[in-house]
Amino acid sequence: MSYQDILVESRDTGVHLITLNRPKVRNALRTRTLEEIADVLEAADADPDIRVCVIAGSEEYFAAGADIKEMAGTGPVDVLADPRQSHRRRIDRFSKPLIAAVNGYALGGGCELAMQADIIIAGDNARFGQPEINLGIIPGAGGTQRLIRAVGQSLAMKMVLSGEMIDARTAREAGLVAEVSPPELTLEKALELARIIAAKPPVAVRLAKDAMRQAFETALSAGLDYERKAFTILAATEDRNEGLAAFMAKRKPRFTGR
Ligand code: CAA
Repeated sequence: MSYQDILVESRDTGVHLITLNRPKVRNALRTRTLEEIADVLEAADADPDIRVCVIAGSEEYFAAGADIKEMAGTGPVDVLADPRQSHRRRIDRFSKPLIAAVNGYALGGGCELAMQADIIIAGDNARFGQPEINLGIIPGAGGTQRLIRAVGQSLAMKMVLSGEMIDARTAREAGLVAEVSPPELTLEKALELARIIAAKPPVAVRLAKDAMRQAFETALSAGLDYERKAFTILAATEDRNEGLAAFMAKRKPRFTGR
C-alpha cells in the first residue's frame, strides 16, 4: 500500500511504526491522514504478526491539530457528516497496544490523537494543548472527555478554556504521559517499549488493554466483573499454561499466541 500523509514500516518483530508525514503543515491532520492511520490500524489488527503499533511525528512536532484550512468554509451539515469521526472511531477500535511517541507540538486534534493511544512517550520538547477555543470552537475529537480523565478537572479545564499549552514535565506529573526523554530518543524509547510488549503473550495483552479501557466506561463493580471474566478466559489459553510452567521450571516462556 502507498500512503500520502504517513509512512508505514515494520520495525522489529511484531512492531509496526506509523510516522505522520505532512511536514509543511506541521503534520496537521486532514481527513485523508486520519483515514490512512485508521486503514493501517485496521489492517494491523487483523494481522497476527503485528503485536504493537507506534505512532510518531518528527523530532520537532507531533501534529498541529485538525487541518484548519480543510475545516474553513464548512457548516453544521458538513460537520455532522464529517467522515473524520468514523476514522477516529476506527482508530479507537484498534485492539492491540498503540504507543504515541510525541515530540514538539501535540495540539488540538494532535493532542486528541496522542490520547487515543494507550501510552504516550514524550520528548522533553513536547507541548500538549487544546487551543480550539482560540478558533471559536471546542475540541471535537475527544479532548473534553479524554483530557479530563487523564489529567483531572482543574488542569483540563485550564487547558481547554484558556487554550494554554502544557510542557512535557507538567504532562508527566499530571499522568498524561508515561515517560519523558530527550527528543532524539523519544521514538527509540517508544519502540523499545513496543518490543517489550510485543514479546508478551498477545491474548493476555489484548484482554488487559480491553479490561483497562472498561475502567473509563463502567462503574467499579461492573469493571471488576469484566476483569474477572477476562481473567477467567485467559485460564483457557496455552500461553497461560506455558507462562506458569516456565516459571516453575525456571526457564524462559515460549508464547505462541494460542
Ligand atoms: N492546519 C493547517 N495548517 C497548519 C496547521 C493546522 N492545524 N498548523 C500549522 N499549519 C501550517 C501553517 O498555516 C503554515 O503554513 P504556511 O507555511 O503555508 O503559512 C505552516 O503550517 C507552518 O506553520 P507556522 O508558521 O505557524 O509554524 P510555527 O512552527 O511557527 O508554529 C504551531 C507551529 C504552534 C503548531 C502553529 O502553526 C499553530 O498554532 N497551529 C495551529 C494549532 C491549532 O490551532 N490547532 C487546533 C486545530 S483545531 C482542531 O484540532 C479541532 C479538533 O479538535 C478536531
